[in-house]
Amino acid sequence: MDIETIKTQIDSEIQNINSPEKLEDFRVRFLGRKGIIAQLTGRIPSLPQQERAEFGQQVNTLKNKILSLIEEKQKFITAGLIQSKTSLGDISMPGIVQELGHLHPITRVIDEICTIFNRMGFSVVEGPEIETEYNNFTGLNIPLEHPSRDVFDTFYLGARCAVLGARKTENRKPKTENRLLLRSHTSPVQIRVMKSRKPPLAVVVPGRVYRPDAVDASHSFMFHQIEGFMVDENIRFSDLKGALEVFAKSVFGKDIKMRFRPHFFPFTEPSAEVDISCIICKGKGCSVCGRKGWLEILGAGMIHPNVFKHVGYDAEKYTGFAFGLGIERIAMLKYGIDDIRLFFENDLRFLRQF
Ligand code: DAH
Repeated sequence: MDIETIKTQIDSEIQNINSPEKLEDFRVRFLGRKGIIAQLTGRIPSLPQQERAEFGQQVNTLKNKILSLIEEKQKFITAGLIQSKTSLGDISMPGIVQELGHLHPITRVIDEICTIFNRMGFSVVEGPEIETEYNNFTGLNIPLEHPSRDVFDTFYLGARCAVLGARKTENRKPKTENRLLLRSHTSPVQIRVMKSRKPPLAVVVPGRVYRPDAVDASHSFMFHQIEGFMVDENIRFSDLKGALEVFAKSVFGKDIKMRFRPHFFPFTEPSAEVDISCIICKGKGCSVCGRKGWLEILGAGMIHPNVFKHVGYDAEKYTGFAFGLGIERIAMLKYGIDDIRLFFENDLRFLRQF
């Protein structure tokens, strides 16, 4: 075999080597005591005098080439072995591309709304999902007999609460007010913030809330709210209207209209439900707005003096507004989603659209 043929053979063989065993085989066959290089060297004495030097040099070059090929392959194999100790597999195969994810539509809407209020000077605060009955209800001026305190409307924690749920209605009234529960709204963070800070303050609170509702296209036992409130001397209802108008127009566009409908919440007085003109039919009436032309987006009002009393604020000196909105509802309107369950099923065909 001439040197050129051997070179081609080496080049093709080395490519297929992917284990230390095969590499050792290769080394022995070419560089071993009876290997090809040794055979070639053995031929030198039988060559005519004038050809010996050149041939010897060619064999030497070939030997060096083989040595460096082996060294290179050795490194490659060791690197591969570090990744997979048991089997090398096909280390020439392309890697697995990691798909990049993105923010969940609910997270995006929360971020967007918090940013809007942040620009108006509100800071973002979070509170725990497990709350005391006091913060969730009593501190917010929600009386003991209020239906939302019923075990069928709030997830109370602990076995005793489950037993209470099985009894007759008249026995279901809690005897104590210090049970723990999964917060049913983000409003209890009002109590936490006001107890730990003095006015002036302006805060928004995003977070999860829980209610034992039967799940359907518009109900989920867990959903998200944003609570907002501002307290200082001389805070007026017009401040509430101004802040909410900036919010609604930033999220739904400059052309939408807002209306405040009188309503009742125990923790605000006066209270209102706030609607925007339907973003689908522009107020003419369609199936999304139930032919009304208006969409309810949040509840709001002036903080009740009793709430101030509970947190130790001087209700003669301070006034404040508060509002609470459901994130899923805003996201559904904004993106035209007709089933709340889609947010929580983790179906990538849905999530990839945002
Ligand atoms: N907490 C109320 C709810 O979950 C929403 C709400 C209404 C919050 C009026 C407020 C408010 O702060 O002023 O239904």
